[in-house]
Amino acid sequence: MLGIGSDHGGYALKQAIMKHLEARGIAYQDYGTYSEASCDYPDYGRAVALAVANGACDRGILICGTGIGISITANKVPGVRAALCGDCFSAEATRSHNDANILALGARVVGEGLALKIVDTFLDTPFSNDERHIRRIQKIEG
Ligand code: RB5
Repeated sequence: MLGIGSDHGGYALKQAIMKHLEARGIAYQDYGTYSEASCDYPDYGRAVALAVANGACDRGILICGTGIGISITANKVPGVRAALCGDCFSAEATRSHNDANILALGARVVGEGLALKIVDTFLDTPFSNDERHIRRIQKIEG
């Protein structure tokens, strides 16, 4: 299960991403926000991050205006590796090297077409399972 969440700044892009996930037959859980009314990104960033950390979701997608606030929030939850990506190279690398379990996007930074390609890259790229990357990921948690 994929968890998805945004604040008001990411709401429209979240709707487009959910439509895209449906077209791809990927199951998701929408953790809000559910309208364009102003709200606080930590509420949604934390909800998806906790769902990933406790195993309710295996991966997540978070969107705010910049992707920054919501990724900072998600990375406060132990076990979460949220990667803010604005290009496909980073999305591929963060899956392959960091085994990132949450993708963060900035809806005011990337257009919808690029965002959907970043989503596909993130979802379709496996972790390398390379010993040196495993070691480095273990060091992130301390
Ligand atoms: C909301 O205006 C905006 O601050 C938020 O979406 C995000 O960009 C924060 O990092």
